[in-house]
Amino acid sequence: MDRQSDCKFSNQSDSQIDGRSGSQPDNRSNGRFDSQFDFLQGGERAAFLLRRLYEQYGYKKYRMGKFEEYDFYTNHKDFLSSGQILTFTDLDGKLMALKPDVTMSIVKRTRATEEQPERLYYNESIYRPAKGALEYREIPQIGVEYIGAVTAETGLEIVVLALKSLAGINENFILDVSHDGVLAGLFEGSDAPVGVKREVSGYIEQKNIHELSMLLNKYNVDEDIAERLLKLPALGGMSPPPPGGRDACHAPDIFGQSLLEAGALALNESMYAALSELHTLHTALAGNPALKSLRLDFSSFAGDSSYYNGLVMKGYIEGSPGAVLSGGRYDPLLRRLGVKGLGAIGFAVYLDEVEASAKTAVQPALKRGAETVARSVLKRGSETENITGADSPGEIIHAETGGAGGKMLRIALPKGRMGDKAYKMFETSGYGCEGYSEDSRKLVFVNRASMISFLMVKPQDVAVYVERGAADVGVAGKDILLETAPDIYELLDLAFGKCRLAVAAPGGYEDDPGSVLRVATKYPNVARSYYTKQNREIEIIKLNGSIELAPILGISDVIVDIVETGSTLRENNLFVREEIAPSSARLIANINSYKFMQPEIIEMLEKIKTHISRLN
Ligand code: PRP
Repeated sequence: MDRQSDCKFSNQSDSQIDGRSGSQPDNRSNGRFDSQFDFLQGGERAAFLLRRLYEQYGYKKYRMGKFEEYDFYTNHKDFLSSGQILTFTDLDGKLMALKPDVTMSIVKRTRATEEQPERLYYNESIYRPAKGALEYREIPQIGVEYIGAVTAETGLEIVVLALKSLAGINENFILDVSHDGVLAGLFEGSDAPVGVKREVSGYIEQKNIHELSMLLNKYNVDEDIAERLLKLPALGGMSPPPPGGRDACHAPDIFGQSLLEAGALALNESMYAALSELHTLHTALAGNPALKSLRLDFSSFAGDSSYYNGLVMKGYIEGSPGAVLSGGRYDPLLRRLGVKGLGAIGFAVYLDEVEASAKTAVQPALKRGAETVARSVLKRGSETENITGADSPGEIIHAETGGAGGKMLRIALPKGRMGDKAYKMFETSGYGCEGYSEDSRKLVFVNRASMISFLMVKPQDVAVYVERGAADVGVAGKDILLETAPDIYELLDLAFGKCRLAVAAPGGYEDDPGSVLRVATKYPNVARSYYTKQNREIEIIKLNGSIELAPILGISDVIVDIVETGSTLRENNLFVREEIAPSSARLIANINSYKFMQPEIIEMLEKIKTHISRLN
């Protein structure tokens, strides 16, 4: 394998991206994703190029129908990301399902043996509930599955294919790799209940170190183990920017550095075995330009050890709000479906995400470049300028984000109670914006000098803007995060906007455990999950404000709401009966932005931490 100085390995030949011991493509083709297919766009282009790539590597097209008997899923729902399945009754009365997953159907019908592994690829749609909407979505996927004897070489082959898949879609990409053996090893011998382990994984996934630390304290987890667990979310995520910026051709070996840090956390055979697999990957890709796009990040681990049992990976491309690729080793599914003595590893590429990133308004603005944008802002004669009145503020912000040399950090600020405090925190931490005013009707404030912009949004919408990548970071109340469970990183407890989520009822109210409890709330998910844990049947009355009126007027028995000073409750003769969770403002980040603007986000995080520690 040649050492190359060219960073654009999407234009490189296969030999440059293959690991030393990886599978070799069919040499009838040079395996390049060349420009002759530029007429194809987004998901269509990706599907075409990836099909070709997988065939070059000897993967055979797997065709399947859209339906599966519903019964097939009832016993294996724990292998699905959602228990909600789109069903219909067939003409013979049988209950059928539109497939919520492709891998399960492939494993069910596999003919692989140890001597004859199966290398398959598919290009199919699956049907799952859309997040935050009361409807199902058709999600087009393309992916590969290897079923057979899984060795370190097979792992490398799949990682190389994942790298090449991402490179084919967008030359700016990152592949996060982790291994379930590291976390499992840290838990070895621990008597922590399964629920606690799941919570630990959840916090690691969110890079939520503050709550992870509280959880470990609460359950008296051994100090040494706790210290190691607390280091996992930050691994691979806190490195300084490479000299010369992200585009420097000789980028540092971030994966190798993280591997060294992870090595220092190892304390038993499971962890050494997992790290040795990751080390094999690192050695095989040594000197390959692809290595600069590889990260060791334990937040990418799905946290569901009943599904994955080895390498786990997630892929990101610049411009897409979330992951576009996800996969790993999934032997437990084979065991569950009765396939003995074999292993399996694969990944799927979400073509809808690829399509969405290709369609964003960013594209035309990016092409125009940041210079035009700079002119359009600066001609207004000041360095800090509100751009709400500009022809297309969205385009301007986006262009500055991605244009040549420009990496503007977009901050979503909650209007109202928390907004001013949040802005002051940013200002004192060195991220002020002349002209900013909470009372203004302006929605966007830009400071070109420090390359930041503030987007003023409703508190309950901050997480939506951040999750969807319209903002890179934001300040959101924990109450809203608990209610909406967005796919974001929760980086810091900002220690203001403190309140608690609680159940309150009128004075003298007596609960009748035999009846259905009527609960008025702005937080239906929080209320539902709280009462489900208590095995209590409830009826939710969803309101948008003035919740305290509901029990007064008799339409509910209790309310689930936030209590800050307690004066609204007092003035309406209501009393806190049970506390559900504390809440305060949190600094959150879009997962993709964290990958591609890590130095900027980490710098901001450190400055805010310093500001907070000065206050205390
Ligand atoms: C929130 C909440 C309570 C009140 C609690 O309402 O829903 O009504 O604040 O604060 P306190 O304990 O300090 O009295 P908000 O002010 O957001 O208005 P809303 O009722 O319109 O939602």
